[in-house]
Amino acid sequence: MEKKIVVLPGDGIGPEVTAEAIKVLRAVEKSFGCVFALQEALIGGAAYEAAGDPLPPETLAACRSADAVLMGAVGDPRQAAAPVDKRPEAGLLRIRKELGLYANLRPATVFPDLISLSCLRPERLGNGLDLLVVRELTGGLYFGEPAGEDRRDGVRRAFNTMLYTEEEIRRIARVGFAAARKRKARLCSVDKANVLAVSRLWREVVEETRGEFPDVELSHMYVDNCAMQLVLRPEQFDVLLTENLFGDILSDETAAIAGSLGLLPSASLSGPQGGAGLYEPVHGSAPDIAGQDRANPLASILSLAMMLDMSCGLPEAAAAVETAVRRTLREGYRTEDIAAGLPGTRLVGCREMGDLVAGRIARAASETSR
Ligand code: IPM
Ligand code: MG
Repeated sequence: MEKKIVVLPGDGIGPEVTAEAIKVLRAVEKSFGCVFALQEALIGGAAYEAAGDPLPPETLAACRSADAVLMGAVGDPRQAAAPVDKRPEAGLLRIRKELGLYANLRPATVFPDLISLSCLRPERLGNGLDLLVVRELTGGLYFGEPAGEDRRDGVRRAFNTMLYTEEEIRRIARVGFAAARKRKARLCSVDKANVLAVSRLWREVVEETRGEFPDVELSHMYVDNCAMQLVLRPEQFDVLLTENLFGDILSDETAAIAGSLGLLPSASLSGPQGGAGLYEPVHGSAPDIAGQDRANPLASILSLAMMLDMSCGLPEAAAAVETAVRRTLREGYRTEDIAAGLPGTRLVGCREMGDLVAGRIARAASETSR
């Protein structure tokens, strides 16, 4: 079986963390007898510098014909003054929209060996954190029209539009329900229905959809309360379903609870069944530490695991990658972002962390395929 993977290293630490994920992919190839044809393409600031466009047409065309896209990160201080539509982030928003990647899955777990990294006290964590944020990714305030700036009576104004159609809500609700079904079957839909018309429709449509998933327990929560409940008692949550901006904010909060942005993977999909998705770490391009072998490649490696499971039909390979990551952490290896204050730490750089995980794949493979 051959899979075509487009690799978009992007900016800052993107290229170095992605290189480690590729190392792990090559180890998977050896142990699982599958073949990956990789094609690299430009996105973000790197693409703007080379081609004057943060999402060149060749990149988009390559992604359209791929089985999956593995992305690093976008964001480059060199374009701070570039027009809004030329900034690296514009490339990311466009690729999401163009590929129809409306379903963003952001799992957040606290690794048992890293519990002391959480911003929460252990008694707040209870049995730990194991939740999934299902964020709508191609609608809401990010894309609603009209959006822009003008002047009225000499006064400058700026506006965005929060807009969702019932179809957009229904399809992401189905992804949320389906994801919950594979976990603890508890879905909490997060909105601001006490204030926003969009949220009232959101709640109505989510309610209409629940009939298709009678085995999933559904609740609703206002977003402000949810932000509070996440730090008070995170273990009450299994799957959080929410719109684009709320999901952006809440998923950073879950990252702080998990302990480091350097650990969280994500998948952006165009349907509930996986299919050709885009996989990227939740973290950004961290230009301040780029090129110094200091970045944590684990979020990228765990994004690769999601890709193997959801777009390549290789759940055993995905499990082997996760096992290899857990084992490496268990043995005390840490990049600097997750090293602080932990006893028995063996500090490593980005490349060594990648070597360690890749080196453990063969062993994890023989265990998962047993
Ligand atoms: C994210 C990021 C992006 C977003 C930015 C870089 C446009 O914060 O993926 O969470 O807001 O979606
Ligand atoms: Mg964000």
